[in-house]
Parts: sequence; C-alpha cells; structure tokens
Amino acid sequence: ARLVVLVSGSGTNLQALLDAVAERGPAGYGAEVVAVGADRDGIAGLERAERAGLPTFVCRVRDHDGRAAWDRALAGAVAAHEPDLVVSAGFMKIVGKEFLARFGGRFVNTHPALLPSFPGAHGVRDALAYGVKVTGCTVHFVDDGVDTGPIIAQGVVEVRDEDDESALHERIKEVERRLLVDTVGRLARHGYRIEARKVILGHD
Ligand code: GRF
Repeated sequence: ARLVVLVSGSGTNLQALLDAVAERGPAGYGAEVVAVGADRDGIAGLERAERAGLPTFVCRVRDHDGRAAWDRALAGAVAAHEPDLVVSAGFMKIVGKEFLARFGGRFVNTHPALLPSFPGAHGVRDALAYGVKVTGCTVHFVDDGVDTGPIIAQGVVEVRDEDDESALHERIKEVERRLLVDTVGRLARHGYRIEARKVILGHD
C-alpha cells in the first residue's frame, strides 16, 4: 500500500513508520511511505522525510484564499502521490469536505488519548487535568468531526502522580508509535471492514 503521511511537528510517529518499512521492507510490512506533507515549514517531520529521500509538500492555510481553498489544495497535493492510505501523524489541522470526499474511509489519525475521551488539540493536558488514572492513544478513521471517526485500535498508558504534560505525552508516544505501525501495517496487509461504527481488522 502507498502511504502519504501528514505531519505538523517532530514526526516521531512518521519516523516509526519509516523505520518499520526499512526494517521489514515494503512487501514485508505491506506498505511504504511515498510522500510526506505538512501544514507548515521548518519542522523536524519534514527533515525526517527529506533524510529518507521522500518527496515532501507544504500546504499553508495563509497561502490560500480561505479554508476551503486550502482544503482543496491539500487534497490535490496528497492525490498527486496516489495514496492507498493517508495517515495523519500529528497533523494539527482539521480537513474539510473535499478532502474527506476524496480520502474518507482511507484516512486515519492517531490521537494521544482514549477517544471519545479528551478529543481535540490538548488531549494529554485535558486527561491530566481531569485526573484520570489511565489514558492512552487511539488510531481511528477521520470523519467530518474532530477525533470522532470509527476507532480502529487503542493502547492504554497509566498516569503517574508525578506526571506533567510532557512526561505523560512522551510515555503515550512510546505506545502510540507501536500502535500506529501495527495498525497501519494490518490495514495495508489485511484490509478491514466497518460495520456501523465497529472496525473489523484482518489478522496476521
Ligand atoms: C502525537 O502524539 C499525536 O498523537 C499528537 O501529536 C503528537 C505528534 O508527535 N497529535 P510526532 O510529531 O509524531 O512526534
């Protein structure tokens, strides 16, 4: 499967996917990253892609005349690489109708909380503030809501008394990277079907 990965930051989830493909080979893993896109310049995620010799693109909202035009441009930039699956790995923008019309059902996101709890841009901070004893991460299909699409896989992470946001987020990311690599690989190798909101994954 051809993957296009969207990033907005450090790109450690992207790196985990790149490492899995390098270690297992595209055939073994079932997928390969063919391009990396971002909503901003100057981020480590794009440097990681360039180090891997991958094509990259940047689609900034401010370069377009409104959100719908940005969404259309992003969809076009992604489509140019003919992805089978689009992966949002720390991509911090909400895509619009046109993007979902073209990639809905094959666009997954990773979120650092156990959805439906703590959706949005501050899931780690919100979980910590709420005082939960366990949190975690979720890989889900992107739908027209914010972190509301059908859940594919989740991983649990304990919250420690001494945690601050960054310590907890780092511990979540250790689980999240493995969950994303495993889930994307299984989606690519074995396909999936969605019954109502339940996602049934193939097994190795
Ligand atoms: C990940 O935890 C992702 O779930 C959240 O931001 C983080 C991005 O990390 N939205 P990275 O850019 O993959 O290192």
